[in-house]
Amino acid sequence: MTRPDPTTLLLARAFPEAPELAATQRLDRFLQHYWRQRWLLLPGALADDPDLPDLLDGDELAGLACEEDADARIVFTKGQHFHQETGPFDPQRFAALGDADWTLLVNGVDLALPGFEPLLRLLRFVPDWRLDDVMVSFAAPGGSVGPHFDHYDVFLIQAQGRRRWELGDRCDGPRYDRTSDEGLDLVSNFDPAHVVHCEPGDVLYVPPGLVHHGIAETPCLTLSLGLRAPSTSDLLAAWTHACMEPSGELPLELDPPLPADPGTLAPETIELARRALRDALLRNLDDADPTRFTHWLGCALTQPGRDAGPELPEPMAAEALAARLAAGALLERSPGARLLRHDDGQIRSLFVGGQAFPTDGASDRALGQLVDGSVIGSGELDTAADYALAAELYNAGWLYLVDPGEEGA
Ligand code: SIN
Ligand code: CO
Repeated sequence: MTRPDPTTLLLARAFPEAPELAATQRLDRFLQHYWRQRWLLLPGALADDPDLPDLLDGDELAGLACEEDADARIVFTKGQHFHQETGPFDPQRFAALGDADWTLLVNGVDLALPGFEPLLRLLRFVPDWRLDDVMVSFAAPGGSVGPHFDHYDVFLIQAQGRRRWELGDRCDGPRYDRTSDEGLDLVSNFDPAHVVHCEPGDVLYVPPGLVHHGIAETPCLTLSLGLRAPSTSDLLAAWTHACMEPSGELPLELDPPLPADPGTLAPETIELARRALRDALLRNLDDADPTRFTHWLGCALTQPGRDAGPELPEPMAAEALAARLAAGALLERSPGARLLRHDDGQIRSLFVGGQAFPTDGASDRALGQLVDGSVIGSGELDTAADYALAAELYNAGWLYLVDPGEEGA
C-alpha cells in the first residue's frame, strides 16, 4: 500500500536520533511503539507550514467564542485550583480577563473557519471516520486546563507561543483519583513523569488515557486535532437500539415458577433476565445480515460529531451541477464531512454523515476522488451517475461549489 504523502510530512522530523529511517519506517515505528501507548513529541513537524501562523489568532478565537452556537469555555487557574465559565461569551468578558492564568477553548473551529482541511489530512494514516474536530485554545501566561486525560488520541499543534507540557506515563490516567469540580474532569495528585516544551510548529501526540497538563509560558495558541473512536458500550448500545423491533414483541417471561415471596427479586428472575439478554445480544450479532451490519456501521461511524450537520444549499439538479463544473467551478468537501467507501465485491457503498448514498453506475475514479481528493472538477467525473452522486452530496450539504477565481469558503 502506498502511504499518503501528508503523513510522512507530520512524522518527517520524528525520531531525530534515527535520521536514517525512511518515511514508512517512521510511520511503522510510530504505530508500533507510540500509537495508543505513549506520548511522542514531533519537534518542528509543522515549522515549515506557511499557513499555520496565520490560521487564526486569539482575537478571532474570542470572536468565535461570542457566536450564538459557540462550544466555548474559559478555564481559570488559581494555584492548584481551576474553574470554568462556559460560553457563548459577551465580547466585554474578554476585556476583564487580565494578563495571566486563563485559557479560552473553542471546539469545532474547523467547522466555523476555513483552512483546517490540510491539517486534518496530515492524519490520514488513521481512517477518516476517526477525525473528530479541531479544538483551539488561546492561553495567557500561566493558563492551563488542569491535569487530565482524554478519551481520544490527540495531536496538539503549537501554533503560537510556548507551552510547557507535563506528561504521565503510558496511559496512566485510571490510576489517579479524579476530581470533577466545576464541571472540569481533572486528576488529583498528578506527579509528572516527563516535561517537554512546545514552540511554534512542534506537535505533541498524546494517546487516550495518558495524563497531560499544558501550562502556557507565554501567550499561546494550541490546536488539538482529536481522533474519536466509539467505546464498545457506545457501539453496542447503538447496534442494540438499531436491532430493536419498535412493536410486536411479546413481554419477556421472567416469572419464577412459584413466587415464594412476591416482594423479593427472585434468583430465577435474575438468571432468566441474564439468559434472555445474552441470547438476544448474541442473536442480534451472529444472525445479523452482513450487508445490514456493514450499512449500519458505515452510517454509525460517519455520523457528524458535534454539529447536527452542514447547512443545506438551494437544491441543484445533476445537469445544472455539470454545467457549473464545465464552466470551471470546483467541488470541495464541506468541513466536518467524513466520507467512507466500502466494496464487498457486489455492493459498493458510500457513507457520508451517517447516511448511505447510492453509487450505482458511479465510476471508481469519481468515488476515489470524492473520498481521497481535495477538490473535484469536471475532469474527475465521467458518467451521468457520477454527476448524480455529486449532486446528491452537494444537496445534502457535504460538498460545496467554488467558482473560478473564488477562494474556498
Ligand atoms: C489546551 O489546549 O490548553 C488543552 C488541550 C488538552 O490538554 O487536551
Ligand atoms: Co487534553
